[in-house]
Amino acid sequence: MPTASSSLFLLCFLCLFSVLKSQSDQLQILLNLKTALQKSSTNVFDSWDSSRFICNFTGIACNSGNSVTEIELSNQNLVGVVPFDLICKLQSLEKLSLGFNSLSGRVTDDLNKCTNLQYLDLGNNLFSGPFPEFSSLSQLQHLFLNQSGFSGVFPWKSLENITGLVTLSLGDNPFDLTPFPSEVVKLTKLNWLYLANCSIGGMIPRDIGNLSELISLELSDNNISGEIPSQIGMLKNLWELELYNNSLIGKLPVGIGNLTKLEKFDASMNYLEGNLSELRFLTNLVTLQLFENELSGAIPAEFGQFKKLVNLSLYGNKLTGPLPPQLGSWANFIFIDVSENFLTGLIPPDMCKEGTMKQLLILQNNLTGEIPASYASCTTLERFRVSKNSLSGTVPTGIWGLPNVNIIDIEFNQFEGPVTPDIRNAKALGQLFLGNNQLSGELPEETSEATSLVSIQLNDNQFSGKIPEAIGNLSN
Ligand SMILES: *[C@@H]1O[C@H](CO)[C@@H](O)[C@H](O)[C@H]1NC(C)=O
Ligand SMILES: *[C@@H]1O[C@H](CO)[C@@H](O)[C@H](O)[C@H]1NC(C)=O
Ligand SMILES: *[C@@H]1O[C@H](CO)[C@@H](O)[C@H](O)[C@H]1NC(C)=O
Ligand SMILES: *[C@@H]1O[C@H](CO)[C@@H](O)[C@H](O)[C@H]1NC(C)=O
Ligand SMILES: *[C@@H]1O[C@H](CO)[C@@H](O)[C@H](O)[C@H]1NC(C)=O
Ligand SMILES: *[C@@H]1O[C@H](CO)[C@@H](O)[C@H](O)[C@H]1NC(C)=O
Ligand SMILES: *[C@@H]1O[C@H](CO)[C@@H](O)[C@H](O)[C@H]1NC(C)=O
Ligand SMILES: *[C@@H]1O[C@H](CO)[C@@H](O)[C@H](O)[C@H]1NC(C)=O
Ligand SMILES: *[C@@H]1O[C@H](CO)[C@@H](O)[C@H](O)[C@H]1NC(C)=O
Ligand SMILES: *[C@@H]1O[C@H](CO)[C@@H](O)[C@H](O)[C@H]1NC(C)=O
Ligand SMILES: *[C@@H]1O[C@H](CO)[C@@H](O)[C@H](O)[C@H]1NC(C)=O
Repeated sequence: MPTASSSLFLLCFLCLFSVLKSQSDQLQILLNLKTALQKSSTNVFDSWDSSRFICNFTGIACNSGNSVTEIELSNQNLVGVVPFDLICKLQSLEKLSLGFNSLSGRVTDDLNKCTNLQYLDLGNNLFSGPFPEFSSLSQLQHLFLNQSGFSGVFPWKSLENITGLVTLSLGDNPFDLTPFPSEVVKLTKLNWLYLANCSIGGMIPRDIGNLSELISLELSDNNISGEIPSQIGMLKNLWELELYNNSLIGKLPVGIGNLTKLEKFDASMNYLEGNLSELRFLTNLVTLQLFENELSGAIPAEFGQFKKLVNLSLYGNKLTGPLPPQLGSWANFIFIDVSENFLTGLIPPDMCKEGTMKQLLILQNNLTGEIPASYASCTTLERFRVSKNSLSGTVPTGIWGLPNVNIIDIEFNQFEGPVTPDIRNAKALGQLFLGNNQLSGELPEETSEATSLVSIQLNDNQFSGKIPEAIGNLSN
């Protein structure tokens, strides 16, 4: 009969043996992983050698029992096929982060053995084939598979019991066209839902309103039809809403005005109609894009008081009435494009007040009055296009010499007066479109110092005198 102390000794020995065994198993798994993925220049594996303690390998983290819990190898130039069968033998693995590499091949069913995974990032790689059913990953909280080459039918049903999911990012994959997956609107903990450009069809379900934790909702570049459901107004935490390039119809729903935390909203390239009235409450908007729709009515006067607005793109609609006079005067305003509408009234004078504006595009409306003198000192301006309006007066002289402007397009207005020698400072100017105005005087000699010029249109004006000879030096 063995004594108590000898059985204790035996037990200890077995226990030590099993620890050593599991350490050597884990080492073997990691060394095989290194071999599988080290096909390009990366130094992330320099510390991965059998003389070291595995929990000290770069990108590896362990729990107190020295079992591997994390593999963090994102953005490391890795190539090769991921051996999920090996990796998922690490029974304590909670985080597998392999995003932004060049990993390829298929993701196999073996993934299902990683049952403790909470964080899986395979995004931004070069995988192929469909993504396997993954319902046994019931602990998942963050799943990134975006822009990674997955195709075929996505196993939406697998999401059914993964109720703790906080991040779901599947966009930019060429999946088969599918109606909006009903499993997704049951994941009430989601705060990040990226389903852009992954062949979603059908309509946005009303129950989208149940995802009340959402901060970012991106459904752009899909084939979604029908109306924007009014329940979207229940997503009170929303900071970003991207719906562009779908086939949405109807009005901006009543209730969308409740999304007062919204900073980024883009529903461009749809068939939306009705007015912008409901958006007047969205005072935190930083960027608003609704171009190429069928929106009508006036631009709400409240937009002129939005303190954070820097980008406004509403071109290609049927908007009427004036632009709010204080528009763009609060933040570091960058960009306005309200071209191709039926707007009237004056150009708001203060959009370059903070000296950051890059693009002023208001062509093809019915705006009147002069170009505000303030834009003559807007040195950041790159594109200045006000053509096809009813603008008049002389062009403020500084406009001709803006140092960063690459297009000045004032065609089809009633401008008068000369092009001034300031143009010598317009070193970036490539295109100068002045046709169909009442401009007069002689084209200045200094035009030849605007050395980037590619194209000049002067037709249908009252210019006189001679074309400066030095124009011939403009070799572009
Ligand atoms: C792991 O690294 C730490 C800090 O670099 C070091 O102090 C420790 O001795 C290493 N552990 C082993 C077992 O090599
Ligand atoms: C795409 O995946 C990467 C990780 O691979 C993540 O950092 C990024 O936020 C994801 N993009 C979106 C829009 O979800
Ligand atoms: C989700 O859980 C239910 C209840 O346990 C089970 O019947 C169902 O098959 C599970 N769904 C999936 C996709 O595994
Ligand atoms: C859509 O996703 C595909 C990959 O499936 C990508 O090549 C393409 O650039 C994406 N399109 C847009 C507009 O982002
Ligand atoms: C959304 O919430 C409502 C009200 O709580 C509930 O009746 C409905 O079943 C939920 N929808 C989904 C898809 O869970
Ligand atoms: C709109 O989305 C479709 C995919 O649904 C894509 O093929 C197309 O390139 C996108 N259009 C633009 C202008 O991005
Ligand atoms: C997009 O949906 C419309 C109907 O809403 C359909 O006619 C069209 O074929 C779909 N496009 C694609 C690429 O599936
Ligand atoms: C918007 O908020 C108001 C007041 O808080 C509320 O009565 C209304 O039901 C909300 N609308 C939506 C669509 O959530
Ligand atoms: C905007 O449209 C809504 C709904 O169609 C309408 O009730 C409202 O009077 C319109 N507002 C303006 C300012 O035209
Ligand atoms: C504003 O628009 C410009 C030009 O389209 C873009 O480069 C920039 O990222 C936008 N800024 C924001 C905050 O959306
Ligand atoms: C533009 O406004 C002018 C002056 O108010 C008016 O005579 C003209 O008919 C308008 N043009 C268009 C296309 O609305």
